[in-house]
Amino acid sequence: MTIPDQTVDESSDAVLLARRHRLLGRSAPLFYDTPLHIVSARDVWMYDAQGRAYLDAYNNVPVVGHCHPRVVTAIADQATRLNVHSRYLHETVLDYAERLTATFDAVLDMVILTCTGSEANDVALQIARQHTGGLGIVCTNQTYHGNTTAVRDLSTLFSDGESRSPLVRPVTFPNAYRPLRGLSGQALVDAHIEEIVEQIGAFKAASVKFAGMLACPIFANEGLPNVPEGYWPRVAQIVREAGGLLIFDEVQAGFGRTGHMWGQQRVGVVPDIVTLGKPMGNGYPIAGVVSRAELIEPFRDEVMYFNTFGATPVACAAALAVLDVIAGEALIDNARTTGQCLADGMRALQSRHPLIGDVRSQGLFLAVELVEDRETKAPAGRLAKLIVNDMKTRGVLISRVGQFDNILKIRPPLPFRPAHADHLLNTFDDCLTALKDAAR
Ligand SMILES: Cc1ncc(COP(=O)(O)O)c(C=O)c1O
Repeated sequence: MTIPDQTVDESSDAVLLARRHRLLGRSAPLFYDTPLHIVSARDVWMYDAQGRAYLDAYNNVPVVGHCHPRVVTAIADQATRLNVHSRYLHETVLDYAERLTATFDAVLDMVILTCTGSEANDVALQIARQHTGGLGIVCTNQTYHGNTTAVRDLSTLFSDGESRSPLVRPVTFPNAYRPLRGLSGQALVDAHIEEIVEQIGAFKAASVKFAGMLACPIFANEGLPNVPEGYWPRVAQIVREAGGLLIFDEVQAGFGRTGHMWGQQRVGVVPDIVTLGKPMGNGYPIAGVVSRAELIEPFRDEVMYFNTFGATPVACAAALAVLDVIAGEALIDNARTTGQCLADGMRALQSRHPLIGDVRSQGLFLAVELVEDRETKAPAGRLAKLIVNDMKTRGVLISRVGQFDNILKIRPPLPFRPAHADHLLNTFDDCLTALKDAAR
């Protein structure tokens, strides 16, 4: 790996940070207390300006590995021939639409391509509202679905579990580790269903017609909770009986992450509308909405939905290459097997480190919930922050998530292998041991 030649004056991190503050604003988000200056990446490794390697156990966008040669070549080849908006006939766009829809249940047979997950969710809301003639949307109370004006109303993680809009009503997300009223099993499912029914009733009382529910099938931003058996089929039934549509946001759950191509296949429910994004182009911006023709056709008929950069030939070439690599390199199987190694190893660490309250996993997605006390489950948010920063100093990149910011989020590119998992686990063990020693 060659590291670009950069003079100290121009590339010193302090200078870059000051320029960034001046040009992008002090609050433009950055990871880590001391930000990283990454200059290149390959497979599951990222390299900083000094040539130091970091194991990437966080980024899901480069799903088939950073700068995968097949994706890079597909982008470059198409870019040398044509890149233009979607109002011309082009085979690659249709090849992609065909290949993508073939990965879903047969009823989900049509697609609208966008650039971002936020746009995809925005379009999904528009379709649901048009189809039902309603406006009321149920979402969960600690989530994020994007940043358009309409979608921000559902992003309750940044607004204390509330929505700013009377057209959006949040419900408690299911969480077997911190269960509603201490319930479990069927009683817990019933309690969640009751909440959804109540919120649908509240819409009715306020003369707002119900349009549907939008949620991530694995509740990625909520912290990957263990969901009680039977939750999703009951939710689908309740939402549909009330005349609404079920929208699954697969922006994080999709493209093999969970050891299934789609989160919906893991939870066993076919939604009415699916939204996709992040890993779709391995970093080239492309996102989309997949649904039934009977929902998409009337939407297209009435709304001239046009997205300049959505469905360009280059975006679709990148996305096609992603599908090829996922299949060709058996990355979904790897998500399952390496994910299991990682989860087993993490549970072994849990038996030695009381700070680890709960370990949850879905394929190559791990949530490690840190608590100050296993009895009270008091969230250890401050320590989680320390650990994320210390892991980075030790050369492994992870992040944290959840209402209390106490859940370590481990969600690497899918070519993450058992040897990488071992490296992460050993580093994490060292980090926890150092923390213990420091507390003595
Ligand atoms: C579940 C989920 N949906 C939607 C989005 C928004 O996607 P984008 O940032 O591409 O607009 C995100 C982004 O983090 C997300 O996590």
